[in-house]
Amino acid sequence: MGILKMEGVSKSFDGNQVLKNVDFFVETGEIHALLGENGAGKSTLLNILAGVLQPDAGSITFAGKSYHNPSIKQMERAGLAFVHQELNVVNDLSVAENIFFNRELTYPLGLLRKKEMLQLTGELFATLGVEMDPAQKVAELKTSQKQLLEICRALHTDAKLMILDEPTTALGNDEVEHLFSILRKLKADGKSFIFVSHKMPEVFQLADRYTVLRNGEKISTGRVADATPLTITTDMVGEKYAAKDVYLPRVFGEPVLELEGFSGQGFRDVNLIIRKGEVVALTGLAGSGASELMQTMFGALPSSGGSIRVSGEEVRGGIGKFMRRQVGMLPTNRKENSVIPDQSVLENEYLAEHNLSKAKLFINRGWETNRYQALKELLGIKAQNPGDAVTSLSGGNQQKVFFARWLNTDVDILLLDNPTQGVDVGAKEEIYGLILALAGQGKTIIINTLEIPEIKKVSDRCVVLYAGDVVAAFDHDDINERDVMLYSTNAVNAEKGK
Ligand SMILES: Nc1ncnc2c1ncn2[C@@H]1O[C@H](COP(=O)(O)OP(=O)(O)OP(=O)(O)O)[C@@H](O)[C@H]1O
Ligand SMILES: [Mg+2]
Repeated sequence: MGILKMEGVSKSFDGNQVLKNVDFFVETGEIHALLGENGAGKSTLLNILAGVLQPDAGSITFAGKSYHNPSIKQMERAGLAFVHQELNVVNDLSVAENIFFNRELTYPLGLLRKKEMLQLTGELFATLGVEMDPAQKVAELKTSQKQLLEICRALHTDAKLMILDEPTTALGNDEVEHLFSILRKLKADGKSFIFVSHKMPEVFQLADRYTVLRNGEKISTGRVADATPLTITTDMVGEKYAAKDVYLPRVFGEPVLELEGFSGQGFRDVNLIIRKGEVVALTGLAGSGASELMQTMFGALPSSGGSIRVSGEEVRGGIGKFMRRQVGMLPTNRKENSVIPDQSVLENEYLAEHNLSKAKLFINRGWETNRYQALKELLGIKAQNPGDAVTSLSGGNQQKVFFARWLNTDVDILLLDNPTQGVDVGAKEEIYGLILALAGQGKTIIINTLEIPEIKKVSDRCVVLYAGDVVAAFDHDDINERDVMLYSTNAVNAEKGK
């Protein structure tokens, strides 16, 4: 008898059927990967399970009991915990208050037992090996810490089955390892997990069984040990899949970005010359400073020393200054943008500014719509009509819209912070093709990413940061998983120091 049995589940939104008679079974004590392209229906199925959405048809049996249109509370009480695709922490509260959110410990008169909650949170972190201060304000945490906090909160409810909808998108490689070790430990205690991820190596590292959805239908299910990345990918995308190598060596133009002794929050003394038409990857684990470096190159964070020249001229100041020199940036993850209010304002602000400096975006509605249609097709954006709220799109489709937005402008230098995060395998290939096509037209592209296969696919050069320093640079032919990892984990120096 498994922990979960969902049978014949169907769901439509405004006449658009996104789940078609889906069966989904999870065994007790397993990690079950739920897979599928962006918009396949994964989050919708899980929202139905958790009582967030009502299905049009179908049944749910969880921990031996049947449920018909259950409420969120009912499922929580039955032992289900859900870590949603978008972050759900309360920024104004402390870490401990978030752990006990809605389940606060109180004295009879309703007074909070603060000391006890702090202490219990400390104990929880100790057993999980998580380093976080229970008294800290959540607003001060990095996105990766917020994500870990949210997972800890779910673990703390002592749930039987835990849903993790893309839990690793905001985590660095070392944090992912840490999370996986926690999950394996809990699995050994008999807990069950549903795990959603677009990263195939994670699935093969962690999951026992898998189910693939495509266009709202269940396509396959089985043991991960009996499958290969290729069989699963083929199930996910159907016939259209072709893993093609798109990289071609190119000739670069004059230097367009010159960093000299460039320093800022989290990185220092970076010297880098990037030429017109070049694709350069920045990479490093959480805390390496790679993302901060990129944000400072766009004026989104202040620099504290050295200089940056764009097309030969030194630029000082904020985003507006860089945009006027034809620099654009796709900021990192939706999760962050949706939880940190000032960041989404910032993003809107520079988009607005860009629109002002490029009045033609306003003039020709027909041109705009055609362009939107072309990008929509190219990236495979699943959206009913352009007027829909972006929040009605699946997570990955939202990311594609953000990406399309930048392709829609004609900047010379494009900074992409983690552009394929949460994006499915087919669209990833499209994005790689686009990056190289843009570079072929003379655009200069800097991409910050943790995915080494992605770096190999698109970049002419890879710059590795560790703890704020540039520790290595590889030309395209020399980029390989092992060497990049050796430098980004600083294993190179650990070896020397032995
Ligand atoms: N509230 C909603 N209103 C209208 N359409 C919706 C709503 N929620 C989801 N959809 C649509 O249902 C389909 C399935 O979305 P879902 O979020 O389940 O996809 P997903 O498999 O989780 O994708 P991703 O990997 O991108 O997160 C998509 O086409 C999406 O646009
Ligand atoms: Mg989803």
